[in-house]
Amino acid sequence: MPVITLASVKGGVGKSTALLSLASDIALSEGSVAVLDADPNGHASRIGAKMAKRLSGVTFSSTGGITEANILASIKKARAEADYVFVDLPGVSSKLTLLGLARSNLVIIPVQASEMDIHDALQTVENVKQAAEAADKTIAACFLLSRWPVTIESRAAKETRKRLTAKAPDVPVLQTPLMDRTAFKEMTFNGAPPRLVEPEGNAAANVAAIRQEVLSLLSAKVEDAA
Ligand SMILES: Nc1ncnc2c1ncn2[C@@H]1O[C@H](COP(=O)(O)OP(=O)(O)OP(=O)(O)O)[C@@H](O)[C@H]1O
Ligand SMILES: [Mg+2]
Repeated sequence: MPVITLASVKGGVGKSTALLSLASDIALSEGSVAVLDADPNGHASRIGAKMAKRLSGVTFSSTGGITEANILASIKKARAEADYVFVDLPGVSSKLTLLGLARSNLVIIPVQASEMDIHDALQTVENVKQAAEAADKTIAACFLLSRWPVTIESRAAKETRKRLTAKAPDVPVLQTPLMDRTAFKEMTFNGAPPRLVEPEGNAAANVAAIRQEVLSLLSAKVEDAA
């Protein structure tokens, strides 16, 4: 079952927020989800545990304490048990991140509208390529514009889109950014994804659009492999 990993060598870009939003939406629409948290800060597993309680009627588990020593076995076990496996990686470049990337089918790299984020997102792409070489397989990657301005797109935001496309033409930028919204912050307090809080709201629609894009990237990858 596909392993979707949120990665960036830069901290604080929105990896855990994007992971929790997307993983819960996939659990509500598509099938069972296992979240593996490989970041020692434990944000995804802590908030994921609250989320699991909110998501009644669906299979959603969250496990923390994923380390260099157990990441390969943990991913193998989660793949056998869940329809979708999500891995949250720490915002660094390490053996742990390399192992996590090597076991991924799709790596989502969040990027905020800033030159620093672009620089580190491109470094993350290099890490994905290295992991793909080590694992001797192709690993799909995409950029997710993160904490995006909800009002008019700033010059920095436009420049970020432009530079990512110019510098990494083989890595698609998801058309739908994850917008900067309080609903995503509120989710960290109560574990309730926007779709449960306000099903017709903007944040829920935002996550649903990203889910569609991610699912089509995954199915394109399956067709490629066939
Ligand atoms: N789309 C969003 N809308 C509003 N706030 C957001 C959004 N995405 C992230 N944030 C906020 O930005 C901060 C960093 O987000 P998050 O913890 O998800 O990033 P991260 O990449 O996982 O960080 P770390 O590298 O520390 O694990 C948090 O305070 C989070 O609430
Ligand atoms: Mg995080």
